[in-house]
Amino acid sequence: IQAEALSAIGAAENQAQLEEARIAILGKKGKLTGAAAGMRHLSKEEKPAAGQMLNEARQAISAALDEKQVVLQEKADELLVAGVDMTMPAAELAAGGLHPLTIVKDRAIQILRRMGFALAEGPEIEDEFHCFDALNTPQDHPARNEKDTFYFDSGKLLRTHTSSVQIRTMEKAKPPVRIIAPGSAYRRDDIDATHHCVFNQLEGLFVAEDVKLGDLKGTLEFFLRHMFGEKTEVRFRPHFFPFTEPSFEIDVKLHVKGEEPKWIEVAGCGMVDPAVFDSINAGRKDELFDSEKVTGFAFGMGLDRLAMIQWGIKDIRLLIENDARFLKQFS
Ligand code: PHE
Repeated sequence: IQAEALSAIGAAENQAQLEEARIAILGKKGKLTGAAAGMRHLSKEEKPAAGQMLNEARQAISAALDEKQVVLQEKADELLVAGVDMTMPAAELAAGGLHPLTIVKDRAIQILRRMGFALAEGPEIEDEFHCFDALNTPQDHPARNEKDTFYFDSGKLLRTHTSSVQIRTMEKAKPPVRIIAPGSAYRRDDIDATHHCVFNQLEGLFVAEDVKLGDLKGTLEFFLRHMFGEKTEVRFRPHFFPFTEPSFEIDVKLHVKGEEPKWIEVAGCGMVDPAVFDSINAGRKDELFDSEKVTGFAFGMGLDRLAMIQWGIKDIRLLIENDARFLKQFS
């Protein structure tokens, strides 16, 4: 009985198990208690020796119980860090989901990377050179206005588009260059259902020998059809950007049940203006971006717009404000 009891005490991993072991040995119906009761069947001569054995066993078991109790108490105290009972069952964690913008961005990146575009990035706090000058944007262009752009006292600004990453990439790379740069952009727009002061773009740039307008058109049509389905209708409308010539805006036809289909603008694009290559070359000794040798196309997509088309979201503010009731629908 003693050996069995000591091994049960040794095996107890917490106070509840130890108490169970104690009751099984010393409790009213415990083994040792039973053995003590059995004494009455013994002869007078046998009793003293048996009694002594029982006493010794009881002492050994009690000592083992006390000792184990101290050990377990210490262990419990250690777990009770800063008032937290680490032995309590943990509360269930609510699993989150990806933000709709993250879902759209990841898919866009996945499709474009398969087409050979590598990821690039640049700072959100930019200087006028990378945001405007190198992109052939004249001093008096309205986009440079303090009414439209957030300026810091230092003269730096919050980039108004991800096109600044085109410049930052070409300053360091050699042609051929084939990059995409997703990121935030900032404008001093009045906030309404389709405008916000912060929004998300994905810039693309492809510069190599003999890049043509057809490459631009094919690339973007392929991309948009992978994004929204094979039958997606895509339209290129002539437009103007200082850094591309010719320039276009791209619309995608949006079909919402019970509504007239309508064209939604998703991107600006065009063939890189030679003036942009000139300003890159001016800053490089190797003059690798010689507009006699290379051509290129660029595009800037609105990721917020893509998300709005994907899920029929009517208000861009929902994408920024992090209302849990809205976000839950995407988890
Ligand atoms: N930067 C332009 C915008 O923000 C989009 C654009 C990118 C246009 C690249 C042409 C080429 O509206």
